[in-house]
Amino acid sequence: MKIAVIHGANLNFTGIRQPDVYGSTSFAAVNKRIEEYCAENKVKLVQFHSNHEGEIIDFIQACHHEAVDGIVINPGAYAHYSHAIADALASVAPVAVEVHLSNIHAREEFRQKSVIARACAGQISGLGIDSYLLAINYLKYRRN
Ligand code: DQA
Repeated sequence: MKIAVIHGANLNFTGIRQPDVYGSTSFAAVNKRIEEYCAENKVKLVQFHSNHEGEIIDFIQACHHEAVDGIVINPGAYAHYSHAIADALASVAPVAVEVHLSNIHAREEFRQKSVIARACAGQISGLGIDSYLLAINYLKYRRN
C-alpha cells in the first residue's frame, strides 16, 4: 500500500500563519507525524508540497504511473477554485481524499465550496493533523 500526501498552496507556512486557525505545529512536525503514522501502519509514503498548481497536477499524474494506491490532498486555497487539480484527480487511478486542517464549512462563504470534492472519495475537514491521519487510515482499510 503506497500513499501520496500532497500539501498545496501555503501549507508550508503551517505553524507560522494564523496559528489560531491552523494550529501552531510546524510544517516539518506535521510531515514527521504523517511519516510516523505511515510507518506504524506499514504504509509506504511519499509526501509532496508545492505552491504551484501545475506542479501539483504533474505530481498527481506521476502518481498514476508510480503505483500509488491512494492520494491524500490538502490543496489549500486551490480547493476553492482549481478545476484543473480536480480534473487531474479525476484522471488518475489512485483514490483521493481531500483534507483540511480547519473546518472550511464553518469559515468564510468562499471557503465552504470545494471544487476538488467531486473528484474525491470523501473529505475530512477541521480535525487538524488528524484530518490527514484519518484519511490515510481510510485509504489503508477501505473496502473496495
Ligand atoms: C486549508 C483551508 C483553505 O481554505 C485555506 O485556503 C488553506 C488551508 C486548511 O487546511 O484548512 O490554505 O486548506
